[in-house]
Amino acid sequence: MRRIVVLSLVLLLAAGMVFAGGRGEAAGLDIGLAMPETHVERWQMDGAALLEGAQQAGYRAEVTYGDADQGRQNQQIQDFITKGVKLLIIGNINEGVNSVVREAAEEGIIVIAYDRLITGSDAYDYYITFDNFQVGVFQGRAIEEALDLPNVSASDPKVITLFAGSPTDNNANFFFDGAMSVLRPYVESGALEIVGPAPLRSSDAAFTRIATENWRADVAKARMENLLSADARDVVLDAVLAPNDTLARAIIEALAADAKYDTTEKLPVVTGQDGEIASVQAIRDGRQYMTVFKDTRNLAAAAIQLADALLSGQDTPAIDGARLDTETYDTGLKVVNSYLLEPINVTVDNYREVMIDSGYYSASDID
Ligand code: BGC
Repeated sequence: MRRIVVLSLVLLLAAGMVFAGGRGEAAGLDIGLAMPETHVERWQMDGAALLEGAQQAGYRAEVTYGDADQGRQNQQIQDFITKGVKLLIIGNINEGVNSVVREAAEEGIIVIAYDRLITGSDAYDYYITFDNFQVGVFQGRAIEEALDLPNVSASDPKVITLFAGSPTDNNANFFFDGAMSVLRPYVESGALEIVGPAPLRSSDAAFTRIATENWRADVAKARMENLLSADARDVVLDAVLAPNDTLARAIIEALAADAKYDTTEKLPVVTGQDGEIASVQAIRDGRQYMTVFKDTRNLAAAAIQLADALLSGQDTPAIDGARLDTETYDTGLKVVNSYLLEPINVTVDNYREVMIDSGYYSASDID
């Protein structure tokens, strides 16, 4: 009897091991792709392009989306670590990611910060992104040009209100500082008047008052509505600095509900970023002034090329279409090797060529 029990136990254990082994095998992973959210359209494009690129390069890969919740993303990353990944590509939400980045480093896993710099960490060495300061410069220049700021005098200034992205996303600082590098001289000369909180740099205390928690459209819309009934009540806005398309459209929605701006012609100049379908349509229709296109296909391809080179033991490899910067991007604890791709300015004059002829969207997506 005892022998039978022991035998069945052995058999059970063996079966269990085979099962676990089989499952472990199937779940075994080389690369974990942790994207921050899906409520901003681009990340699904990033996730899909990264997954495809990794698989084409022969890696077992998986992609997750964190719903703009760092706790949730940390669990997803933890899961990747358990599945034995050798490399992680992470677009994080906030510094709460640092505990899992440290854990990955201790396990010898390579971490690449994707699009967003992971600040407050010295546990990784590589960052790949677009030139985010330049994104802001495009936004600032668009406003400068549309309002003809060089020819505006302080006696009859143009009026603007300012929005920024998530206060926990390092990119939000770069976008704002790039835009203000163009606009600040006009504010200082009096040609451009800011209504509402008026930081001139992301390091100014008032920056937190124009920032938009987790890039949420409802937060930006509510803030625009408040401005319209308070600081911006007695003026006509000529421009709104909006950091991305998701927020730009929410802001335009709030503006359009106000009698002062209830036709396309009366809307102020509103900037954007990402080349989202609805914003490209709004640009075509004259409701949004511009966007900045950051081709996620190129960023994903460059990130996979970098991953592949790092996994084969290379150090700061050259990456097609990306500029290596080893001096600028400081996490607060160390400067990381950064690869920068070039963003593209998009207006009504070139949206077809940039967004459709390039194959990013088909004409039927837009028309
Ligand atoms: C990205 C933008 C995006 C924003 C919100 C930023 O980190 O660079 O492209 O619009 O996050 O998701």
